[in-house]
Amino acid sequence: MIEQRAADHFLAARVRDAAPSPTLAVSDRARQLKSEGIDVIDLGGGDPDFITPQHIRQAATDAMNGGQTHYVASPGIPELRKAIAAKLKVDNGIEVDPAQGVLVTPGGKAALFQAAMALVEPGVDVMVLEPAWVSYVPMIELAGGTAIHVGLDPDDNFAVMREMLEQHVTDRTRAILINSPNNPTGRVLGHDELVALAEFARAHDLMVWTDEIYEKILYDGHQHESIAAYPGMAERTLTFNGLSKAYAMTGWRLGYVAGPPAFIQEIAKVHSHSVTCATSFAQAGGVAALTGDQAFIGEMLAAWDRRRHLVHDGLGAVKGLRCPLVEGAFYAFVDGRETGHDALALADVLLREAHVAVVPGTAFGEAGEGHVRLSFATGDDVLEQAVQRIRDVLGRH
Ligand SMILES: Cc1ncc(COP(=O)(O)O)c(C=O)c1O
Repeated sequence: MIEQRAADHFLAARVRDAAPSPTLAVSDRARQLKSEGIDVIDLGGGDPDFITPQHIRQAATDAMNGGQTHYVASPGIPELRKAIAAKLKVDNGIEVDPAQGVLVTPGGKAALFQAAMALVEPGVDVMVLEPAWVSYVPMIELAGGTAIHVGLDPDDNFAVMREMLEQHVTDRTRAILINSPNNPTGRVLGHDELVALAEFARAHDLMVWTDEIYEKILYDGHQHESIAAYPGMAERTLTFNGLSKAYAMTGWRLGYVAGPPAFIQEIAKVHSHSVTCATSFAQAGGVAALTGDQAFIGEMLAAWDRRRHLVHDGLGAVKGLRCPLVEGAFYAFVDGRETGHDALALADVLLREAHVAVVPGTAFGEAGEGHVRLSFATGDDVLEQAVQRIRDVLGRH
């Protein structure tokens, strides 16, 4: 067997230097402890605890039984691309050409990765607002580029301001990546922040990559706005989204990127040479999801809203923890700076002593120091138990 040291000789440096996904690592660790007989509650992941609605499963089953088991058009079946274009128009005010401006991928993650491969290379900088989802920086680096970490301030509710963007931009910067509602902070970018981002992007001739995968998961009347619909932005914006979160379809692997054909057609090359197409019958389910009854989303939201309060009330009462009510998505980004633990130590204490798996905030960049992220996309009883365990353990510390 080739030892790691010898394997390094064969490995590409960009891969050797990449860290594995820290959120998947948390889940692996939790699974390992469970296999040792320890009753671990895993709040590390980001998977809705609902099964995909029946009408969506039925559409996919019918497609499979009807023989849709072959390769399909590489950029996606026309019905799904049309459904996505219609959705973007109605929900987001974005006009895209379903034939040339939409690419269906196996998950939003693949869309982002393929875009990075198409648009990033050595010498290209991409700005990432942090705390940020764990895969953005590795994707940029795997493509050979440099991520510019723009740390947002937890004491200012992770607000985005033009001055801070200006401080970080370089003459090699080609794009800025934004994510609202945000994983992990739960922040929803407000209109003024989006205006500032749009003006900044235009002033520096940057592309905006906007990851809107949590757009349907909003609380307390917060509104989602798409930056591609802002004046002069459609031509420089790529909008990423997917069906995983809004329709509880994580395992189906369905996502998409939409934008100007000049970019989408180039990303489509990477797509065709890497995955050929997203799964045929899953795409039939995707059409049913986007064109069918949307009531299911409201039902999930009601449950997540209840749990959001449960975590906020339960952990907010623990000395040293701050647990603001999040504006969107289904994560609590708990501020533990006053416990005296750093993010890694806090996550470690919670895993080892409370047997609750959470993600250290630094997995999302230095701006997440002192925080841990926990997912509330899990059953109320499990969550109550987790909150109780955390209270007991931190109460003792
Ligand atoms: C911010 C963000 N973007 C993209 C994704 C990718 O989701 P998927 O590949 O399932 O569409 C996730 C998944 O956790 C996410 O949190």
